[in-house]
Amino acid sequence: MIVVVNFSSRKDGNCYRISGVIKKHFKDKKVKIYNFYENTYSSCGHCDYECFKKRCKVNDGINEIFKSIVQSEETIFVLPNYCDYPNSNYFLFNERSCGFFNGNKDLLNRYLSINKKFIVVSNSCHTNFYDALKYQVNENTKPEILYFNSRKFNQNPIDGTLMSNSDAEALVHDFLDSKYLEEESAMAIVFYKDLVLTTVEEVYDRPTLSLPKGHIEKGESVLDAAIRECFEETNEVITKDNYVNKLNPFEITFINHHNKLVKKIIYPLIFRVDKIGELAAKEDRIKKVKYLPIGEFLLKCTYDNVKTMIMEAISK
Ligand SMILES: Cc1cc2nc3c(=O)[nH]c(=O)nc-3n(C[C@H](O)[C@H](O)[C@H](O)COP(=O)(O)O)c2cc1C
Repeated sequence: MIVVVNFSSRKDGNCYRISGVIKKHFKDKKVKIYNFYENTYSSCGHCDYECFKKRCKVNDGINEIFKSIVQSEETIFVLPNYCDYPNSNYFLFNERSCGFFNGNKDLLNRYLSINKKFIVVSNSCHTNFYDALKYQVNENTKPEILYFNSRKFNQNPIDGTLMSNSDAEALVHDFLDSKYLEEESAMAIVFYKDLVLTTVEEVYDRPTLSLPKGHIEKGESVLDAAIRECFEETNEVITKDNYVNKLNPFEITFINHHNKLVKKIIYPLIFRVDKIGELAAKEDRIKKVKYLPIGEFLLKCTYDNVKTMIMEAISK
């Protein structure tokens, strides 16, 4: 059985319609959809925390969702973004898990090991969703999340019409089939004294602080690609003599400009220069290029994994 949990509070919105596409996708299987808008589940309270002693005394049917997930072959959560976070139904659900698991570690482990996927509408503050959803899977598993930017599909997010766009519907099918285009990219972490070379990139129309990086061409080495991309994006000339060390590669997934799902492996390389060249933002999507104090970069960088990487790079 496939379980779909639609956390949206409205009927006939994007989450509801995405749930319909999921049902269509798994047409040969039994699909059970739980719609939060149809039920009044309670948040924790009006009790004496009985869940820590014996059984949660609230009897509103929410445990049935947990029970179905544990028995499912795969579960898909469909969540709306309200003010940059999952909507409150998701937090309510998470909170009520206490009453279901009731300290039963085996049951919790079974729940966490169920294959899960997450579809988020719409598209701001990915890290808040990542942080909230990672508790639905095992510690060593990255939650697989598809973030929809309605405007990218020429839809107003409030209209609930995202699935009327055939590219958007196709993405749901690709995501459920784990059909990704695979790409590789080299990243240059360039230090000058206690400064790091940064870029401000336009990502989904938002300025995003990052590091120089780009596609590894066929037959090109990671080192050559990092050196070339650094020059192409920032005009900074680095050479093999500036190369210090490499860090572990990491993976990101996103929707490209052709509305296809992409899984990209990024190989970060560390360089150290003893003078700063003439910097220039040379590509259209790059808005600024600057050496920033490392502390300032750590405060301002959007991506947690890039922050962790910089900390690691300093120690090399
Ligand atoms: C109270 C509220 C806050 C929202 N905040 C955001 C937001 O911060 N970022 C975003 O991308 N979309 C935001 N949206 C848009 C919703 O995510 C979008 O309308 C989504 O389709 C809602 O799910 P539904 O269509 O299933 O109701 C917000 C919508 C509401 C109602």
